[in-house]
Amino acid sequence: IDNGYDCWLNYKYIEEDRLRNSYVESCAQITVIGESAVMQSARRELSLALTSMLGKAPESGSFPVSDSGIVAGTFGSSPVFDELAREYVIDELGDEGYVIRAMDNDRLYLAAATDKGVLYAVFHFIRLLQTGESIEGLRVRQVPGNGLRMINHWDNMDGSIERGYAGNSIFYRDGEFVGDKGRIRDYARLLASGAINAVSINNVNVHQQESKLITKQFLPEVAIVADIFGDYGIRLYLSVNFASPIEIGGLDTADPLAPEVSEWWMRAARDIYRYVPDFGGFVVKADSEFRPGPFTYGRNHADGANMIADALEPFGGEVIWRCFVYNCLQDWRDRKTDRARAAYDHFTPLDGQFRDNVLLQIKNGPMDFQVREPVSPLFGGLKRTNQLLELQITQEYTGQQRHLCYLVPQWKEVFDFDTHARGQGSTVAETASGRLFGRKRGGIAAVTNIGDDANWTGHVLAQANWYGYSRLAWDAGLSSEQIALEWIRMTFGQEPGLESVILEMLMSSYGIYEDYTAPLGVGWMVNPGHHYGPNVDGYEYSKWGTYHYADCHGLGVDRSIRSGTGYAGQYHYPVAATYESPESCPDELLLFFHHVPYTHMLKSGKTVIQHIYDTHFGGAERAANLIAQWDSIAEKIDGQTYRETRERLVHQAEHAGEWRDLVNTYFYRKSGIADELGRLIY
Ligand code: GCU
Repeated sequence: IDNGYDCWLNYKYIEEDRLRNSYVESCAQITVIGESAVMQSARRELSLALTSMLGKAPESGSFPVSDSGIVAGTFGSSPVFDELAREYVIDELGDEGYVIRAMDNDRLYLAAATDKGVLYAVFHFIRLLQTGESIEGLRVRQVPGNGLRMINHWDNMDGSIERGYAGNSIFYRDGEFVGDKGRIRDYARLLASGAINAVSINNVNVHQQESKLITKQFLPEVAIVADIFGDYGIRLYLSVNFASPIEIGGLDTADPLAPEVSEWWMRAARDIYRYVPDFGGFVVKADSEFRPGPFTYGRNHADGANMIADALEPFGGEVIWRCFVYNCLQDWRDRKTDRARAAYDHFTPLDGQFRDNVLLQIKNGPMDFQVREPVSPLFGGLKRTNQLLELQITQEYTGQQRHLCYLVPQWKEVFDFDTHARGQGSTVAETASGRLFGRKRGGIAAVTNIGDDANWTGHVLAQANWYGYSRLAWDAGLSSEQIALEWIRMTFGQEPGLESVILEMLMSSYGIYEDYTAPLGVGWMVNPGHHYGPNVDGYEYSKWGTYHYADCHGLGVDRSIRSGTGYAGQYHYPVAATYESPESCPDELLLFFHHVPYTHMLKSGKTVIQHIYDTHFGGAERAANLIAQWDSIAEKIDGQTYRETRERLVHQAEHAGEWRDLVNTYFYRKSGIADELGRLIY
């Protein structure tokens, strides 16, 4: 890793002779059959990777291929795959699955039903080399767990990024597309290496200039960018303004049931597909945080989504309709309204009413990407509607890429959560993918953490979240450790002393961050607006529906059915029952579901107040320790990366101390209960 620009694709020379030599023979010659843009990407990548890692350019075999070496292509492209094709049910590999197979005749086959599958096979094979795996007798068969594996950008055309912590947009500057698209190409390559197959390139909050992205003013540029992504098997999507017919169409309504409105969208779709034949579709944030939507016209979300979906349908496009819909003008005095309930209350009554080419995009939790939230009850609540799980890679509430926070463990908990919608085993991984209810579309989307910083993510170690997201999107069954290890080896090389230290840092980081920030699922104790740093009452008396209700007796939100907002009742049995009572509710979510006294005894055997003190003292201490861990591998890391990361770790340690003191002091003053260990509280 030099300046971090190549991320996990920096293809370091494999120093260890034995390992390198074990690859050299099988990789001395490569034949990639096919000339499509995607195949050319595959060929270029394979050749680049082998040349740099093995120190010698492979011979490029020409058709018919020689006896040994790597042969990559689609099953139908050559009789050389016939034997292999007999072994696999090609239909089951689908559009994106692939096989990698060493055959007796010294050939190594990378094969798939489609070009895209071959590209994924190539990246998989390269990863094996980067992580030091044996390639002898290889037998790999991979099919993605999610059909749609998407990245959302919150980039604005002025070049800024909403909730971006790694510089400016790589797509736009000063209201225009950037001229030099080189970086976009490098980005597409990184996405493809993780088998991401969809990207939306503008903020869900679509302002004036971005509304015009679907007009002839910008479509030629959109088409150029779409082509770049297309070379890597990635479809391009745009976020659109629901009020476009008014904003850019000159109509005086955006009513989804008005014929002139649907005609306008049909014309818009025709124009888009003329420029971008493989256009993916629209992402829509409607009736959410002041964005326009169907409510203005007394229509519901199905009316809105279906009307736009009908316009895209003839061209194979889809509508990704966000469920982040709630009342953001709440009165803090009103304890009946519960923002956590909102998405479920809005969307479950519409279950089954959406078109086949609509997917509802649902944030992992019912609030907004807090450090700890329960899983949204819409998963398992919706049964006859396509879904897309939305995660946030950008660390809005988890340290803004100045704090280290490896999020894969958090996401794993989401995927593994059992909704019990069809009995045991109805996990989010099963519902979001569409498998549980036999739906054809489904998948996962996430808000990216990249910008135009030289290392893409600001904090180099935050690249692990980007990488980890794509790996989980493909296979939610991978463990957090395995993903972290892959990333470390691919990024820093195979250096045993370094590996264990970074692994430990990553794996402990989410727990550390949770400890010194948000106790027991409470959330929102941050500064309003930018959301960085501690402010216990920052959102307490606001309109956003985000409260902890701390007073001198206790804290937490009663969301039980019996005495609270009833949110717990949005889950299936037995999940609802587990959350309903403070006795069975898991500690880490206790304050999300219940208002309890500070002296309430947790399952851990500690009182709530002592837990707050202990985690905050402990978390800040462990955060400070990260510096020493990093320093212990200083010589094994290039100077710039070492220094830049260290600076962030030092800031994190200081800032964790601020969190500790502010939160502890606040709750000490509220409760009047002293720390059992008599540590310093102000
Ligand atoms: C959060 C975030 C906003 C974003 C919104 C969304 O509220 O702070 O910046 O626009 O989520 O997901 O739409």
